Amino acid sequence: MKRLLICLITAVHACHAYGQTPLFIPAALTGTTFNLNVQSGTTSFFPGYNTPTYGVNGSLLAPTLIFNQGDSIHINVTNSLPVTTTMHWHGLHVPAMYDGGPEQVISPGTTWQPVFKMINDAGTYWYHPHGLGKTDLQVSKGIAGMIIVKDPVEAALNLPRTYGVDDFPVIVQTKAFDMLRQIAIATEDDTLLMVNGTVDPYLDAPAQVVRLRILNGSSMRSYMFGFSGNLPFKLIANDGGLLDTSTTLTRIRLSPGERIEVLLDLTGKAGQTIYFKNYGSELPAGIYGAAVAGTGAATIPFYNLNHLNGSDYNVMKLNVVAPTASPVTSIPATLATLSPWSVSSVDTTRTFKFDPKIADSTTFAMGPFNINDTQFDMGLINVVTYINNTEIWTLINNTMIAHPFHIHDVFFYILDINGVPPPVFERGKKDVVLVMPGDTVRFITKFEDYADELTPYMYHCHLLHHEDDGMMGQFVVMPDKTMVKPVSKEADILLYPNPSNDKLTVTSNSTINTLSISNLFGQTLFTQQYHSPKVEVDIADLPAGVYFIRINNTDVQKFVKQ
Ligand code: C2O
Ligand code: CU
Repeated sequence: MKRLLICLITAVHACHAYGQTPLFIPAALTGTTFNLNVQSGTTSFFPGYNTPTYGVNGSLLAPTLIFNQGDSIHINVTNSLPVTTTMHWHGLHVPAMYDGGPEQVISPGTTWQPVFKMINDAGTYWYHPHGLGKTDLQVSKGIAGMIIVKDPVEAALNLPRTYGVDDFPVIVQTKAFDMLRQIAIATEDDTLLMVNGTVDPYLDAPAQVVRLRILNGSSMRSYMFGFSGNLPFKLIANDGGLLDTSTTLTRIRLSPGERIEVLLDLTGKAGQTIYFKNYGSELPAGIYGAAVAGTGAATIPFYNLNHLNGSDYNVMKLNVVAPTASPVTSIPATLATLSPWSVSSVDTTRTFKFDPKIADSTTFAMGPFNINDTQFDMGLINVVTYINNTEIWTLINNTMIAHPFHIHDVFFYILDINGVPPPVFERGKKDVVLVMPGDTVRFITKFEDYADELTPYMYHCHLLHHEDDGMMGQFVVMPDKTMVKPVSKEADILLYPNPSNDKLTVTSNSTINTLSISNLFGQTLFTQQYHSPKVEVDIADLPAGVYFIRINNTDVQKFVKQ
């Protein structure tokens, strides 16, 4: 009964929503050094209630980070929360130790300082916490921000790119609340819809070509986006950046974690009102957000009480206003060059099966679920791969609900879904793919960015409740194929001083016969034979950065050259 009451209250709230509140546009930070303070605060989602929330440099959400390709980026993430957190750069290619997964814990009162070169192509990415078992709570409480990467290819195109003027961040989320208006997780009560944290938003959009960078930052919910009157839009980018050509669409499905960039031509439409909508009635059964979340007998209790499921509603009102001084009025047909890897270059193929954790739970669509019959375990490396390995991953969904599968470190191209090439909206560089119940999805990828035999990257379901429940695995990218397994982290090597700028002393419990130094790209820079438990290595000529010392091809330690 109490549950029903909440639904009725929020349903009434939503029914009267006609775009009352100006869309909040998160501040944009630019440059090469970024200071992010993760903090707690309160946000008023319901008149008269202050809900405890988390945010970065504020009480809710996070600033938009604008990076230029080629820059060396320094980020200071200070944790002012009373609990541990982490910060993951979703979609960015960064060294594993700076990826912000469950291993890179930021204790309360401390600052974590990832440093990486921006090697991504222009596109829309995002950042959010990724702590062990904590992702859903910390993201739902408000920590999520957009990342925009710029590069010369994108800059050469005639596209809208003035942030907040003709280029807008659109972070779509739903949240669930308990009786006290506190944010709740792992429930089917995510009845409050918001864009950039704004409930019932409107946006004044100029009468010209505008760009919407749409991120599904919801914990569970997928959407079928479109515009009122079936206004066509152009899809120009998805997860990993620009597509080769722009495509005209009237609907696009977006699952949690996925991003798209769309252009909307509002030329000559000043004075009109257009609604950005979710056509939830068009989502097929099996997707969280459709009329039926499971397939067959699989159900989620109380799912039908959530008025957002399987229905069509406005997400945001667009008031078309006068154009800006030098508007973009046309849309380029050709965008970027895509170079998918060829299937004939594949070194390794792997299969990942999604199953319910409990064998007889096929009727229960809330999980827990696992991958290859294994729950996430920090102490277990599930996949070992090698730098520059090209692989095909086959994802098989044996469960009754759709899962958005996400991989860190790399992007991929979808080869086929049940043997058929992907629809146009799933072409290009992806890092999340929604795998429908019963489906088999194959993608091709290459682990060409970074090697680190000590630090894993994650792959997981981006339904945050599934991820937290263990539907996640980890992989390491080894620097060369002669290494068959990840080395022990408790290697008996001592390095000092570390960091160092000229000489490094290395001692070992066993005799050092071979010592080599490699960089984050897996390149061996130096190999030397010795026969001593203690050696001194001259590193004066190495550029500043992170390196690995490997002893006798088994034990590894990391060091930093200053
Ligand atoms: Cu957006 Cu591993 O996450
Ligand atoms: Cu899942």
